[in-house]
Amino acid sequence: MTVSLHWLWFAIPAFCLAVLGLYDLFHPTSNLLRIYPLLAYGRFASEEIRPEIHQYFVEDDISGTPLSRNDRQMVYERAAKSHEEKSFGTELDVYAAGYEWLNHTIAPKQANKDQFRVRIGGKDCRHPYDMALLNVSSMSFGSLSANAVLALNGGAKLGNFAHATGEGGLSQYHLRPGGDLVWEIGTAYFGCRTKEGRFDPDLFKEKAAEPAVKCVTIKLSQGAKPGLGGVMPASKMTEEIADVRGVPAHQKCESPPGHSEFETPIGLLEFVQRLRDLCDAKPVGFKLCIGHRSEFLAICKAMLETNILPDYIIVDGGEGGTGAAPLEFEDHVGVPLTEGLHFVHQALVACGLRDQIRIGCSGKVTSAFEMARRIIQGADYCNAARAMMLALGCIQAQRCETNRCPTGITTQDPSRTRGLKPDVKQHLVRNFQYATVMEFNRLIASMGLLSPDQLHASMLMRRVGPTRVKSYEDLYYQAKPNELLDGDVDPFWGRDWQDARSDTFGPRSVRERHGTPT
Ligand SMILES: Cc1cc2nc3c(=O)[nH]c(=O)nc-3n(C[C@H](O)[C@H](O)[C@H](O)COP(=O)(O)O)c2cc1C
Repeated sequence: MTVSLHWLWFAIPAFCLAVLGLYDLFHPTSNLLRIYPLLAYGRFASEEIRPEIHQYFVEDDISGTPLSRNDRQMVYERAAKSHEEKSFGTELDVYAAGYEWLNHTIAPKQANKDQFRVRIGGKDCRHPYDMALLNVSSMSFGSLSANAVLALNGGAKLGNFAHATGEGGLSQYHLRPGGDLVWEIGTAYFGCRTKEGRFDPDLFKEKAAEPAVKCVTIKLSQGAKPGLGGVMPASKMTEEIADVRGVPAHQKCESPPGHSEFETPIGLLEFVQRLRDLCDAKPVGFKLCIGHRSEFLAICKAMLETNILPDYIIVDGGEGGTGAAPLEFEDHVGVPLTEGLHFVHQALVACGLRDQIRIGCSGKVTSAFEMARRIIQGADYCNAARAMMLALGCIQAQRCETNRCPTGITTQDPSRTRGLKPDVKQHLVRNFQYATVMEFNRLIASMGLLSPDQLHASMLMRRVGPTRVKSYEDLYYQAKPNELLDGDVDPFWGRDWQDARSDTFGPRSVRERHGTPT
């Protein structure tokens, strides 16, 4: 007689569940599992797939965050060169406070067929660079996979725009495709640091001489986490990434919050000059998110005193993206781009420096309208990080910090990165950039303009109430050239101009109570 063992199909799983349930009853940390053994896993699973469920079934076209479904869709379609237009009219509530629009003309121009460019390079620069109006914003190798970096740089090469390296150093993946690079130097001086973590001038000089390096950016801060150094989890710190950065592998890597090479506004500008001397006078600038207004004015005073000027300044908005940052910093530290950009532009105008320094910006630039809006607010050109990630196929899963990015963009896991093919994706990056700047050309032509420098604050309108509309010219302070040098300081500057000192950073209230921090 044969005995059927089919009952084991039921008995083994039931036994395993009973053991797990018993373990849960006495779980060392989770109160949910102790109170609801086994059942609590249902909640954990729902939490895990919540973002996907929300994105696919709950969010509407205009309310998704950080970037809305409409924004994401537009990038995907422009990158894929597929259906790029929409029917049936806007989904936005044009009567809601905060709604913004551009004024067109009855006499539009023909749109320019070529990309406009902005020349970067002031009086001390020997190798000026003609920057495109839309470029790849800083994202490091390490934060991004090698294939993602290759695709971004390949796209930059195909489309003749710039690719910023991010603070994680200059890798072979940045250099191999041959696209123009903006090399970013952060507080940890990755790629040009001594063993002790200080700036290494010889290493910097050697790498800055790479022909692909067109500009050098000193990163002071980033909108998503100003005042915090970058963090790289140990899981992402492979041997290769560690080698590019000059740090130990498989260990968590935290950049210091501030620079060790300078402590004062004058010190910052002397560092700008030092880098410029070391890189044969290529354009050197800095990137920051505005915090205390007096600190930026202190840099302006230092510029006036030393006559050392950065070739460009990149303003990042508090709404900026990141590979990893605490929520408090993402949500509540740093001036949003509109105010930050406006302030930097007005400060340079008021100090008589604006025509010698270019302004770049980053913060959710995904469309031609955003480009026009930011140029009106004071930028000369724009950079985009997350939109470029979308062009690579990012689905906004918001798991960049886990090393489990489902699209192979922000992970070092080979089973995921193999899915991202740089030779295919580089075309999508290029297509997105090209379609967006061409749309920008059509937009300004519809406004009757021949070039971006004709954009003006009177052309951008905002609804400020149910029956009230104002232009940016009326909403935001418009400084007169050199007004801060003439002694008659407008109330817009508050005490900030008076408080700004070229020999110290730090808020006035702290200085008054505790003395100068330097
Ligand atoms: C994955 C990721 C990595 C980033 N890494 C850097 C970095 O290394 N250095 C930096 O200055 N900014 C970094 N940023 C910020 C972007 O360069 C950019 O300033 C910010 O995301 C705003 O642009 P966006 O709204 O187009 O994304 C990173 C952003 C992302 C999403």
